[in-house]
Amino acid sequence: MRRAFITGVNGQDGSYLAEYLLRKGYEVHGLIRRTSSFNRGRIEHLHTYEGDKGLILHYGDLIDASNLFHLLRKIDPHEIYHLAAQSHVGISFETPLSTTNIIALGTLRLLEAIRSLDLSETKIYNASTSELYGNTTQCPQNEDTPFMATSPYAIAKLYGHKICENYRDAYEMKIWNGIFFNHESPRRGENFVTRKITISIAKMLQKKQDKLYMGNLDVIRDWGYAPDYVEAMWQMLQTDKPDNYVIATGVGHSVRQFIECAFEYVDIPISWKGKGINEKGYGLLRHSKQKKILVEINPRYNRPIEVNRLIGDSTKARKTFGWRPKTTFKELVKIMLEEDIKREETTCKFLG
Ligand code: NAP
Ligand code: GDD
Repeated sequence: MRRAFITGVNGQDGSYLAEYLLRKGYEVHGLIRRTSSFNRGRIEHLHTYEGDKGLILHYGDLIDASNLFHLLRKIDPHEIYHLAAQSHVGISFETPLSTTNIIALGTLRLLEAIRSLDLSETKIYNASTSELYGNTTQCPQNEDTPFMATSPYAIAKLYGHKICENYRDAYEMKIWNGIFFNHESPRRGENFVTRKITISIAKMLQKKQDKLYMGNLDVIRDWGYAPDYVEAMWQMLQTDKPDNYVIATGVGHSVRQFIECAFEYVDIPISWKGKGINEKGYGLLRHSKQKKILVEINPRYNRPIEVNRLIGDSTKARKTFGWRPKTTFKELVKIMLEEDIKREETTCKFLG
């Protein structure tokens, strides 16, 4: 039986990847942090996955080098998926030191533990990111596009990306960097833009929220569906040569388009008036008689530096291991909204 070890198993991607590997018959081990209250909603169901042994959890932390060393010695995994991170770009401006410690030094701690244990046959996936491209003028971005990282998060990830390449070259370690563009799902953290929009709309329909307060509406992202993307992590580790791969849909949409598409799905067309921080989105909610302001700008959600446009070209992944996205932008919006609407309706039922 193949053994996999996932850092960040409790996150969006970690939870889908754990499911995917369990389905493939892997023995799956995951690293979780100790928290004062339980936050394992995404992986709770995996403990008894289809009656099998299920996911095996280990306490640990990327800031604790000896913990990583002892765990890896015990588990001796065939594959390591390194996903753990403080993954919010905006928040990285507020917490640059801990973000850098977890992402940059955390990756180095993991690599050093693997090297010290001489796990030379272990394959390693490193969660790199499209944020490395920053405000490059090249579009779409591929594996050869120069990096222009513009946030503490992206700069820490750039270190992680580069140290993985360095250990690959220097010690012949089997490390793949997945340069993933934004990917979302009903399990996406609540303060990422897509999930914030779908949760807010679901709450508005239940009269539990009046407005959606947003930052920059005109940035463009290449949004895919997370379960499609975790498949690419596994697929690249099955190729012969460790390398870097861009994973993206190749289609960009603005935050504004995401908002419009999500509101349209619940039959509320949005019309925009005003400019800059005074711009407002108007629409008619089912329970109101006249159009109201449903979207407003709040500058607190702007970042000190914005990454304006990320659109990826994943031709290399398609040619090498046949990966392509299965879910369209519209389908993604629908999947996320339906799930959040269901969740809000259920909560309302319980509240009476
Ligand atoms: P996520 O939902 O934020 O999950 C991150 C996970 O890392 C969480 O389980 C978190 O644990 C864990 N973690 C944070 N600090 C840790 C520490 N010090 N020690 C151990 N674990 C720690 O992120 P995601 O969306 O699944 O993304 C997975 C990875 O891909 C991240 O590295 C992210 O930067 C990268 N990435 C994501 C995207 C995307 O669009 N989703 C795109 C490109 C790259 P808690 O649950 O305890 O907080
Ligand atoms: N979060 C958030 N909240 N973002 C907003 C808001 C808001 O209210 N209003 C506008 N935005 C804009 C952000 O400024 C950003 O340009 C865009 O929406 C997307 O923001 P996020 O959803 O927070 O994601 P991200 O693109 O910054 O980062 C995600 O994708 C990266 C890959 O490109 C994260 O998952 C990173 O971990 C990942 O590396």
